[in-house]
Amino acid sequence: MAIDAQSPIGIFDSGIGGLTVAREVKKLLPNEQIVYFGDTAHLPYGDKSTAAIQAYSVKIADVLIKEKCKLILIACNSASAAAFDLVKAYVASKALVVNVIDPVVSFLGKHHNGETVGLIGTKQTVTSGVYLQKVNNLGVGIQMKSLATPLLAPMIEEGFHLQNISKDIIASYLGQTELKEIQTLVLGCTHYPLIKNQILEFFNGKIELIDASETVARSVADLLKFNGLLAEKKTTEKDKFLVSDYTVSFEETTKLFFGKQIKLQKYPLWE
Ligand code: DGL
Repeated sequence: MAIDAQSPIGIFDSGIGGLTVAREVKKLLPNEQIVYFGDTAHLPYGDKSTAAIQAYSVKIADVLIKEKCKLILIACNSASAAAFDLVKAYVASKALVVNVIDPVVSFLGKHHNGETVGLIGTKQTVTSGVYLQKVNNLGVGIQMKSLATPLLAPMIEEGFHLQNISKDIIASYLGQTELKEIQTLVLGCTHYPLIKNQILEFFNGKIELIDASETVARSVADLLKFNGLLAEKKTTEKDKFLVSDYTVSFEETTKLFFGKQIKLQKYPLWE
């Protein structure tokens, strides 16, 4: 199947986290149509086994291929860590595949040599050791300190990040010894840009935060351009938002990011 430049960009995550990346993609590439899949029925991914995340990811890739997507962006660190190679092999020549980890690693290689860099993410992302391995492979003297922060994604997904209780949870994670000496902190979960201000406040603005959304959007643009697949004219198709289960918080966040007129479509992965 030949890939068409006017086809949509497929983006997926367990829930609302990937919307932070989708928003940047749309900002940078306003001509493109996006098809977003939020796997709300299986959220959170971060606590699931690698095999389960791989099964969900391949199933979603299948949906996005059926939607004729020219590129699949795995807008989830947990799925990028557990299933990138598998999704790539599965999709083969039907679409391009991008993850959210490689663009951040190459950004660190360009701008943060010799630093002590912290990473916070889900259990899957941290225990997979993917960031550590890729950063060590750069060989630029970056010391990585990783910390799993499993309560944060469900807290954000449920909208609790706007309440006072979240301040204590954030402080109890970020105060851990692992993050004592860091100069830079990678937000290794696409949900975390939604608590960026609370994190900066905890560190009194003394560290640099790396929010992958913009860097990832840029690598999507570069890859499409390299392959001659950037949409030449503005699409007339509406963006689509598919969810494996309907949740109020997903709908609210999507409206906040993409405007009141959006409609969620329920798309169960297994019937
Ligand atoms: N937003 C996801 C990530 O980047 C998943 C969070 C979760 O579902 O646990 O890891």
